[in-house]
This record gives sequence, structure tokens and C-alpha cells, in this order.
Amino acid sequence: MSVRYPGRMINTPALLLFLSFIFTAGCQNNQQITSLQIQLDSLRNQLNHSYKPGFGEFMSAIQAHHVKLWFAGKNENWELADFEVKEIKELFDDIRTFETDRLETESTTIIDAPLDSVQVAITQKNLPEFAHYFSLLTTTCNTCHQSVDYGFNVVTIPAFQPFANQEFNPNH
Ligand code: HEC
Repeated sequence: MSVRYPGRMINTPALLLFLSFIFTAGCQNNQQITSLQIQLDSLRNQLNHSYKPGFGEFMSAIQAHHVKLWFAGKNENWELADFEVKEIKELFDDIRTFETDRLETESTTIIDAPLDSVQVAITQKNLPEFAHYFSLLTTTCNTCHQSVDYGFNVVTIPAFQPFANQEFNPNH
């Protein structure tokens, strides 16, 4: 059977076949969209329940590396000091990645210059410069704390080495 249009012949079975093909493709698309939506919901759910350290936890980690940096530098263990200053930098980078919802994150840039200066002193293996810039670094930690209303968290130059299970002297 065929339908005659002015100047053109259309084969009806072929047309039906074509339309059923389009319809099936459309249904498959809908199935795919539903399946993708389910996957998306599941991923969103996983993301919402995945562990993200809090600002204070990053700070506690920074505090530990701040201590280690001091004793590494004081012992002129420059390789370890270089490692520690990089750990602190990484943690501030992590804060910028994971704590975007905290207003204080914007203020972290204040620490970049003092950290760079400490790193230069380490590269130059210069103990007096290291001590000077470590002190500036510590003051800057507190400047930030004061500026974001956490001034009660006072960081000091460590009085003693609290890590009983780590060697800081390179010539041990
Ligand atoms: C944004 C500026 C900023 C800078 C720079 C900064 N801090 Fe903090 N710090 C904070 C904030 C905000 C908190 C409170 C976090 C919270 O919500 O628990 C904090 C908390 C702390 C705490 C308390 C953590 C606890 O739970 O007991 C310590 C220790 C600390 N910071 C150490 C440091 C050290 C060391 C440096 C420098 C190397 C530093 N901070 C630099 C903003 C800063």
C-alpha cells in the first residue's frame, strides 16, 4: 500500500518502520536519562556523606608541621625543614580547595609571603634568616587569627620538641 501525494510516492510500511525506529530510540534515550539520573543521585549522596576535614583540623595539622619546621631548622636539618614548609603550604592549599564555604579562607593569602621567605632561608641554609622568618611566620599566624576573630588561638615559637618518636638532628 502506498499513499500518493502530489508529485511524490511515500511507502507506508517504510514510513511506519521509520517512525517506530524513532519511537524506540526515544524510549531508549529516556531509559538512559533515567539511569544517568539514578547514578547522579547516588554520586551526589556519596559526596554529601564523604569525609571532609574541618578548618580546625587543617589548622591542627598545620600546628604540628609548624613545630616540626622549627626543630628541623634549628637543627639545620634543611632537607626535613624543606619538607615541613612544603607540608604547611599544601595544607593551606587544601584549605583553599575544601573550605570554600568559610569566609576566613580568603584571609589565608596573608601567610604566603612569610612561608616563601622561610623557604628561601632554608634553600640558603641560613639559620639566622630561618629564625627571623620563622618568627615572622608565627606572628602572621596570629595576625590572621586576630583578623578573623580567633585571636584566642595564640601560636608561639615552640618551647620544646613534643614529638618523642621523630629524629630532627640530621647527624643522629
Ligand atoms: C585565615 C587565616 C589563618 C591563618 C593564616 C592561620 N590560621 Fe590558624 N586558625 C584560623 C581559623 C579560622 C581557626 C579556627 C578554625 C576552626 O573553625 O576550628 C584557626 C585555628 C588554629 C588553631 C587551633 C586549632 C585547634 O582546634 O586547636 C591552631 C593551633 C592554629 N590555627 C595554628 C595556626 C598556625 C601555626 C598558623 C601559621 C602557620 C595559622 N594557624 C595560620 C585561621 C588562620
